[in-house]
Amino acid sequence: MSNDHVAFFDTTLRDGEQSPGCSMTTQEKLTLAHALEDLGVDVIEAGFAMASEGDFAAIATITQAIRKPRITSLARAKTEDIEMAARALQHAERARIHVFLAASDLHLEYKLKLSRAEALDLCGESVRLACSLCDDVEFSPEDATRADRDYLVEMVRVAIEAGATTINMPDTVGYVMPAEYGHMFSEVRERIPAIDEKGVILSTHCHDDLGLAVANTLAAVEAGARQVECAINGIGERAGNAALEEIAAALYVRKDRFNVSSAIKLDQIYPTSEVLGQLITFKPSPNKAIVGANAFAHESGIHQHGMLANPLCYEIMTPALVGAPCTHLVLGKHSGRAALRHRLEQLGFTVDRDELQHVYYRFVALADRKKNIYDQDLIGLLPNGIRERRQEPVEELN
Ligand code: KIV
Ligand code: ZN
Repeated sequence: MSNDHVAFFDTTLRDGEQSPGCSMTTQEKLTLAHALEDLGVDVIEAGFAMASEGDFAAIATITQAIRKPRITSLARAKTEDIEMAARALQHAERARIHVFLAASDLHLEYKLKLSRAEALDLCGESVRLACSLCDDVEFSPEDATRADRDYLVEMVRVAIEAGATTINMPDTVGYVMPAEYGHMFSEVRERIPAIDEKGVILSTHCHDDLGLAVANTLAAVEAGARQVECAINGIGERAGNAALEEIAAALYVRKDRFNVSSAIKLDQIYPTSEVLGQLITFKPSPNKAIVGANAFAHESGIHQHGMLANPLCYEIMTPALVGAPCTHLVLGKHSGRAALRHRLEQLGFTVDRDELQHVYYRFVALADRKKNIYDQDLIGLLPNGIRERRQEPVEELN
């Protein structure tokens, strides 16, 4: 893989599924896995084999049907977890075992009751066991961003010596700031020459507790991370994981800055988001970047006028780029005459200046009273003379 390739590791089916309202049946997971394959993700984290029989079955089913992306299962640093992950993955064309173990003192002391030294031993043993069962092993020092830095470096070194080829440094609780996260990647890479010597891939995994998951991910990419862990629509534990669609779009729109490539087929982003929205209990909020219903909608008169003159005035990408429905000029109380005339023309009505002025006053009065203005409302505002002149509409009523 070239050094400018950023691998997309999708964890919608594992970390994403861990959030309320998001659990999926095996069949539903398979449906999403097909969509993820079409989207071009490099790795699908299909579940956590040890967590339940359902997770095991879903991973095994996905490995039989999905052949292009690598399929991985999460495993704690425990023999039974790692062996279970290997069994679930046994029919995969390309498999990975993803082992994680806490690295912060807080997690070691309160959650695992392990000393630092014990955890280092466990890290080495479990990565070695995973490597004996699978030719591709990823290790995640959990809560990396709150771990003592020297100890984190030590744990990563042990994991690489034991055979891990991908090191993922998660911001498990969404605590870190972008510059700090970027710096952590640079420092770990600098202090462990084996990362570059052996071609170990550094990976990001960010949670959105402070709304910084995507910003942190991008900061790590700038610092040399070459795998991004993310979820469709940003679903995941608590406030969610970094949103795949936002990372992919940012790397594309700002390729002048990032200068990296990925295998994501951008025009499959919106269709994949739609598939997920039908499988779980909620859709992205309307103002969600890239895939929200308002991501390409414009209501204010100034913006609508600019959009009609040149869409670049207010859109940094076209909806078509990400496979979303066309730009929508929403008619509301902030809209201006240009958008009103445009919509009337689409509906087959041509109006002169005075007529437009007359209809516009009635429109603004209505928009002050009503949140949504539909085409039928607009037509209802037109005097008979204009209605009688109607030509073939270029768009359906909405
Ligand atoms: O957030 C996290 O730390 C995780 C790990 C298991 C990678 O999900
Ligand atoms: Zn996570």
